[in-house]
Amino acid sequence: MKASIILLPGDGIGPEIVAQARLVLENVASQFGHEFGFASHPIGGIAIDEFGDPLPQATIDACKTSDAIMLGAVGGPKWDDPSAKTRPEAGLLKIRKELGLFANLRPIRLFAELVDASPLKREIIEGTDILFLRELTGGIYFGESGRSGSGKDEAAFQSMIYSVGEVERIVRLAAKAAQGRDGRLTSVDKANVLEPSRLWRQTAARVMADEFPDVKYDVVLVDAMAMHLINRPKDFDVVVTGNMFGDILTDAASMLPGSLGMLPSASLGDGGPGLYEPIHGSAPDIAGKGIANPLATILAAAMMLRHSLNLNAEAEAIEAAVQQVLADGLRTADIARGGEATSTEAMGAAVVQRLAGAQ
Ligand code: NAI
Ligand code: MG
Repeated sequence: MKASIILLPGDGIGPEIVAQARLVLENVASQFGHEFGFASHPIGGIAIDEFGDPLPQATIDACKTSDAIMLGAVGGPKWDDPSAKTRPEAGLLKIRKELGLFANLRPIRLFAELVDASPLKREIIEGTDILFLRELTGGIYFGESGRSGSGKDEAAFQSMIYSVGEVERIVRLAAKAAQGRDGRLTSVDKANVLEPSRLWRQTAARVMADEFPDVKYDVVLVDAMAMHLINRPKDFDVVVTGNMFGDILTDAASMLPGSLGMLPSASLGDGGPGLYEPIHGSAPDIAGKGIANPLATILAAAMMLRHSLNLNAEAEAIEAAVQQVLADGLRTADIARGGEATSTEAMGAAVVQRLAGAQ
């Protein structure tokens, strides 16, 4: 197949890790007989420096006509001046909005080879493989807010609103993801207290019964979920939840595997291009040193193949190659635990080599 892929390397380690993900994608294309076209565009601090805008219109236009987008990271101390008119992160929020990316997918997968990197006990986390879907463009973060009164009577409010349509679209996406995995979906809400959660629960139950009778479906309250995640993470397959609950739960869950440098994410909308990126930031403390872990971005490339290009075998080939380089003992500094560390480029090259060997 032919696909046009936009690369938004961004700042800090962004260009270093995106370069490795690109090499992996190019290798997949040649192995499996696809034609991937790549074009790089500026976003974040580098775009501010060059164009005075963290998301130039040309970048937006290129993204909108592409099949998928790969982002490195944005931000850094150079652009942290609080008096600055615009910040790199504004580019990130705007691109999500421009593309209507309402679902954030975050797989929490623990590679057996890295089980000792987790702060949790081996027997609790071994085998953990959860896919979170967090609603990204609605809920309390986007609700009306305000203040009234003064002194001790000063009060603030922020409203949480979800519509049936917003719930339906993310639940459908989550259920489809479950069909491609272990066939189980858990919806997390606070329906014992919150009205939007009751609407969420009602809507999700209807969608699941009408459209996905083959998916095993259950609901868990968010406070209980916080406990289960730490206590029995391997019991979950796909988890779908609202914006705020997802924000908190995914950050907690990202600590299960113990390393930021291993975790990819995807943001998807209705049919248009998806945006794929590592969950970590631009890591200014190690930028330019050639030691960043490229595996989160490479795993994000696998998500791109699976979710935007419908290339499942290709996605699995990348994930298997990553698993193999870990089994070979290769570790970048963040996962080396004091042992010998390999460079960003050597790690990328090892994945490419394993991919080539797989065919
Ligand atoms: P960070 O994720 O960039 O770094 C946290 C720590 O993890 C650092 O010690 C870093 O060296 C390490 N680290 C992160 N990714 C790594 C990798 N691939 N390999 C090895 N080590 C890695 O978070 P921090 O330091 O809070 O933020 C730095 C900048 O990144 C800030 O300007 C922040 O706003 C921005 N940021 C951007 C994000 C994005 O573009 N999506 C997300 C989070 C932060
Ligand atoms: Mg957060």
